Amino acid sequence: MVDWLIRLFFNNCPDSLKKPFKRRFGLLLLLLPLFIAGPVQSEQLPIESLLQRSYLDDYYSNVVYGYRIVTETEKYGARYTGNNLRCSNCHLNAGRKENGLPLNVAGMYPKWRSKNGRRNGIGLRIRECFVYSLNGIMPPEDAPEVMAVAAYISYLSHGETIGKAPAGRGVPTLPDTGYDPNPASGKAIYDQTCAACHGSNGQGIAHMPPLWGMNAYNEGAGMASVHRAAGFIWANMPLGQERTLSHQQALDVSAYINMQIRPGDPREYKLLKLFETVSWFFDR
Ligand code: HEC
Ligand code: HEC
Repeated sequence: MVDWLIRLFFNNCPDSLKKPFKRRFGLLLLLLPLFIAGPVQSEQLPIESLLQRSYLDDYYSNVVYGYRIVTETEKYGARYTGNNLRCSNCHLNAGRKENGLPLNVAGMYPKWRSKNGRRNGIGLRIRECFVYSLNGIMPPEDAPEVMAVAAYISYLSHGETIGKAPAGRGVPTLPDTGYDPNPASGKAIYDQTCAACHGSNGQGIAHMPPLWGMNAYNEGAGMASVHRAAGFIWANMPLGQERTLSHQQALDVSAYINMQIRPGDPREYKLLKLFETVSWFFDR
């Protein structure tokens, strides 16, 4: 092997040169592929190429499973969802769009969160989106679905700095317009610019997700905050014509959408609370 490599590199060298080289550098030459492979291996493989592979190691098979849960939640996350939304309906481009709720945020956790008054790991953060945005039930901490989405989020976060918000995290915070959100003008904007895709009653059409009604996110979801949804809408909607609404128009339409009927905040369901307490008792 060493001979062959040397012949490959130094075909025309005189023998007197080859011999000492072989003694000193032969082994090194043999190890050369390892040095090259090292840095290549730490590069991330693009998700599209991972999807093509028939064999994946433990980490990458979880990444792919997580990607499928995010993009086809109704199928791969079905055990815990309560509506037909997908994570990627809000976390656009499968969590890879700046200002479209990107998911490359592993380095931002664990952190304190006032919503539930505890230190949240990425696992709990994922589980909560099932409860509120997907109006479903809280998966257990060690559910394979949670592990897989966490792996996918780690994968997306490759190269980000721990503790530093990635570029375009979340949605933009719109500047104060000086006017209150006006749902009546929001209705006019909705009928004109959104209804064609999201339905005249916000129910969604074919592959377009619903914005209200019993199949939409519930009142406890992040999107149920008028200002946050306005930032999302301004930066991402109407799909394909983002940033064409004024800040005020985005606020108005967001207020209109969030005034409509949708599932309630599960934190206020007394019966559910009781079930949770009882199941906690049996889990011990
Ligand atoms: C209806 C829209 C919607 C859907 C569907 C949705 N999310 Fe979210 N998600 C949000 C919003 C809005 C935020 C940010 C607001 C907040 O902090 O509450 C968020 C925040 C997050 C975060 C934290 C992001 C950060 O910047 O720290 C994670 C992780 C997350 N979601 C995961 C998921 C997963 C996994 C799913 C699918 C199982 C999902 N989400 C489905 C709207 C959604
Ligand atoms: C051309 C079709 C189209 C138009 C027009 C459009 N949307 Fe959307 N909207 C989508 C699609 C598709 C998604 C899901 C994105 C994905 O899965 O990649 C979405 C997602 C959303 C979401 C988050 C998901 C959910 O169901 O809660 C909100 C909120 C939203 N749109 C609001 C609006 C508003 C407000 C308007 C009008 C200003 C609007 N959209 C106009 C196609 C459209």
